[in-house]
Amino acid sequence: MNKDWQYFNPVKVVSGVGSLSRLREFTKSGDWLLITSSGFTRRGLVDTITKQLDRVALQVYDSVTPNPELEDLETVTQHYRGALIQGIIALGGGSAIDAAKVLAVTLCCELERPLVEVLRQPKKHNWDKKLPLIVIPTTSGTGAEVTPFATVWDKPYHKKHSITGDKVFPDVALLDPALTVPLPEFETLYTSLDAISHALESIWNVNRSPVSEAFGVQSLNLALKALPKLRKQPDDIDARADMQQASLLAGLAISQTRTAIAHSISYPLTSYFNVPHGIACSFTLPTLIEEYLKSKPDFKNRELILRAKELVSSLDIACYINQYATKEDVLSKKEGMHHPDRAGNYDGEMNELTLHQVLLKSLDWN
Ligand SMILES: [Fe+2]
Repeated sequence: MNKDWQYFNPVKVVSGVGSLSRLREFTKSGDWLLITSSGFTRRGLVDTITKQLDRVALQVYDSVTPNPELEDLETVTQHYRGALIQGIIALGGGSAIDAAKVLAVTLCCELERPLVEVLRQPKKHNWDKKLPLIVIPTTSGTGAEVTPFATVWDKPYHKKHSITGDKVFPDVALLDPALTVPLPEFETLYTSLDAISHALESIWNVNRSPVSEAFGVQSLNLALKALPKLRKQPDDIDARADMQQASLLAGLAISQTRTAIAHSISYPLTSYFNVPHGIACSFTLPTLIEEYLKSKPDFKNRELILRAKELVSSLDIACYINQYATKEDVLSKKEGMHHPDRAGNYDGEMNELTLHQVLLKSLDWN
């Protein structure tokens, strides 16, 4: 636990069934841009929002795809740069929210070079301006509604970039659990696993503070209660609300600590083999929990993380990985899985040999 710490999170959170209807309160007049995916246009939710925002000239970009790509975001930035957009609304999962976070800073900053060059250079760009940003998550897992970072995938280079900084925080998050009820079974599973992974990654994090730890522990308790209920009854609105809060709390925790080893392992699997993020960042959790407790036998949250191990083990996540990558595929990317930016946040013991064993054991290949 860090003795010196600070806490900052500026996002106004409005939670509850029907909170989508409060969107009007947080928008001003002028041109706003709604970032979403085509499914929400087809299902009529974009129409509902357009009608609610009668004083706003709403432009809609509904072509967000999973894992927003740098070159696409460059194109969208160029397209809307001259449109005098006053604010942005994100409706969707982590990909829509991440895309909206990027546009909230790129549409109001004069970049000397194209976005692709800005992000591919080693030096981090300082984003010093932003447009107002309202996010409406329709999945529960990423916590992107309250974090100061957005992930951008650079497919040609098999890399991911992070846009980070205080200007990347959304201004308002509207959490309406009713919006998460239609989420299909598989997406519910892997987004919930992402929330569980975030909670654990904040708990075993070198940057943890009393505040992040309280959020992480509460998040994990809620998620472990909600996920088995959602597996049995996907339209259980109380369980949906619990999972949404678990995602929020884990997001608040990692907004301070950032993620750690399980996420470090996940990124090459997503960038090379398209393994869904929630699967890639959770298939190692049971083994990591076991290894962590071996090195920290007196860990105060032992019972809690053992419950997480039991639940995640019962879901047999390895079989999903096998649909995307072979053993040779996964092991061939081992080097990129131990990235100091993330793996360095883990306060357990990890080296190349341990990582190899964790991968083999997690996928039942030993
Ligand atoms: Fe994640």
